Amino acid sequence: MDIVATLGTQKTTIHFASVEVVEALLPRHAVLVTDENVAAAWPAFAGTRKTIVVSPGEGSKRIPTYERVLESLAEAGADRSTPVVAWGGGVVGDLAGFAAGTYMRGVPLIQVPTSLLAMVDSSVGGKVGVDLAAGKNLAGAFVAPQDVYVATGFLATLPERELRAGMAEVIKYGFIMDAPLLDTLGGDLEPLVARCIALKVQVVDEDPYETLGRRAILNFGHTVAHAIEHATGYGPVLHGEAVAIGMVAEARLARDLGLAPADLVDEVERTLVRHALPTRIPEGVTPEQLLEAMRRDKKAKAGRLGFSLVSEPGKCTLVPNVPEEAVLRALSNS
Ligand code: GLY
Repeated sequence: MDIVATLGTQKTTIHFASVEVVEALLPRHAVLVTDENVAAAWPAFAGTRKTIVVSPGEGSKRIPTYERVLESLAEAGADRSTPVVAWGGGVVGDLAGFAAGTYMRGVPLIQVPTSLLAMVDSSVGGKVGVDLAAGKNLAGAFVAPQDVYVATGFLATLPERELRAGMAEVIKYGFIMDAPLLDTLGGDLEPLVARCIALKVQVVDEDPYETLGRRAILNFGHTVAHAIEHATGYGPVLHGEAVAIGMVAEARLARDLGLAPADLVDEVERTLVRHALPTRIPEGVTPEQLLEAMRRDKKAKAGRLGFSLVSEPGKCTLVPNVPEEAVLRALSNS
């Protein structure tokens, strides 16, 4: 069962298939971009086409690696009709997607996500880019993949910690727009992944370029998460783990602002703990440090801090102008 997503005028077909079928369906002349872990875990897949391999981790989502991918595409003889396959997790998807969107002013992009996080979030919706010293995803673009191939078989080799981190984004969908999903978290992964993708497609369709406020609900937990990742130097805390901590802090913020009942904080925290996800700001990181990082974040518009806040499980709205004192209080309470 395919899902067709639209990003403005661009269409993406999302296919669900086995690893073997995905390999057979990818164009022969495509260039794969992946990381060392994925290439080592799936050597037969990597051996089928020209492959550009980067180091694993957020550290590769930077301009020097982006430049290296572009130069490697040129060395591989890629032309305007050569599809780039972003085969990996969120870092590879964002990096290779940005390279595909800019190499020769844009070549076809195919996303083949291998992490839970990339399957349910980053491979769909067209956001690609790299981090700058000033903050996460500060250089980027919207580049809709032509196809996304989702093979949950890839999750078999994903480290347990990464699988857990991906669950944070799954849990996020429950709290922002689909409370019944929270009762199915222990079930089969494949229908859960398909459900999350359908939810994301619906949001992206309504607000493709995040200009109307609707797409911003996907950022629940992310304003704090990006600040944590920045303050800890991108790496020690995985993105999904930071999102888990961020969702608790932002639930507390919603409560303090009178937008959500007190028990929302407990419910968010309990759900995350059940999936062995962290809920506390890491030792040594201060609320002031996080606030400073948020001020620089691209979501701070005209000096104002915006948050996507959940008012009850399944309902989320963008709150554009949150006072800094309230943010500091919510961050101090953890
Ligand atoms: N990951 C949030 C978005 O795609 O808008």
